[in-house]
Amino acid sequence: MEVIKEISVMQKIAEELRREGFIIGFVPTMGYLHEGHLALVKMAKDKADKVVVSVFVNPLQFGPKEDYEIYPRDLERDLNLLKPLGVDYLFSPSVEEMYPRGFQTFVEVTELTKGLCGAFRPGHFRGVTTVVLKLFNIVKPHFAVFGQKDYQQFKVIERMVRDLDLDIQILAHPTVRDHDGLALSSRNSYLSEEERRSAISIYQALKYAERLVFGGERDPHRLGALIKEYIEKFPHNRVQYIEIVDPETLEPVEKIEKDVLIALAVFVGKTRLIDNRLIRLVDEYIAMEARDEEKIPQS
Ligand code: PAF
Repeated sequence: MEVIKEISVMQKIAEELRREGFIIGFVPTMGYLHEGHLALVKMAKDKADKVVVSVFVNPLQFGPKEDYEIYPRDLERDLNLLKPLGVDYLFSPSVEEMYPRGFQTFVEVTELTKGLCGAFRPGHFRGVTTVVLKLFNIVKPHFAVFGQKDYQQFKVIERMVRDLDLDIQILAHPTVRDHDGLALSSRNSYLSEEERRSAISIYQALKYAERLVFGGERDPHRLGALIKEYIEKFPHNRVQYIEIVDPETLEPVEKIEKDVLIALAVFVGKTRLIDNRLIRLVDEYIAMEARDEEKIPQS
């Protein structure tokens, strides 16, 4: 695996790979890799001839009171995790390389970023889309893989790619979870043992919510209140938001009558964790109808 720090070097390599007809798969990360990232890399490896992973803690996507300074960084550790997976290139530029003096161009997806995390992290998605577009121009991938834990991020990037006519396929990988259901995140490393135990309630609450919907709950406000009550019964937990939204527009629904996304952010102590669950009500209806049809005696 070759480690590349300069944009011009990465661009030259990418051009050469494309000229030789290789399919380039890309996994952008902020490092401090965990099994979730590695699953994205494995997915890229399955579909690509050459895989590029980037490790860059992007200052543009952190708010002034957020954890940019303390965000865990350990490139050596990341390298050791990536090597056995057969990654071809690790692109790890400095902040000065990505944002030299005079940098002043930003990319913004306007509507999909208004709600959910966007409402609580002003400028966050502008930072994400700006860096991801830069990375796409540097790595020149045919496709890029993102995790579904960051569902809003995935949708925002998908939109950017469509709106700006980028010739890049955006793939989603399902959320990877620990044995107890906690969604893997580099920020889990901030949790104390006791906070870690409370954090499990997030996944449990999402599963509980799904059972309620399949049991007939159709009121998103009541459902949201029940999820909040469940999570906040545990010590250290404070819900920042729970939203039941349309999975495509990310706009809140007034009634749960087709597929919905339950998305939430919870502070566990000082650590902000996000998670979501896509509830496939339409599939459930089809399955129910099929079950009902089976019950009709055949003449
Ligand atoms: O999901 C992340 O780790 C980051 O938001 C990304 C996509 C690498 C952009 O900095």
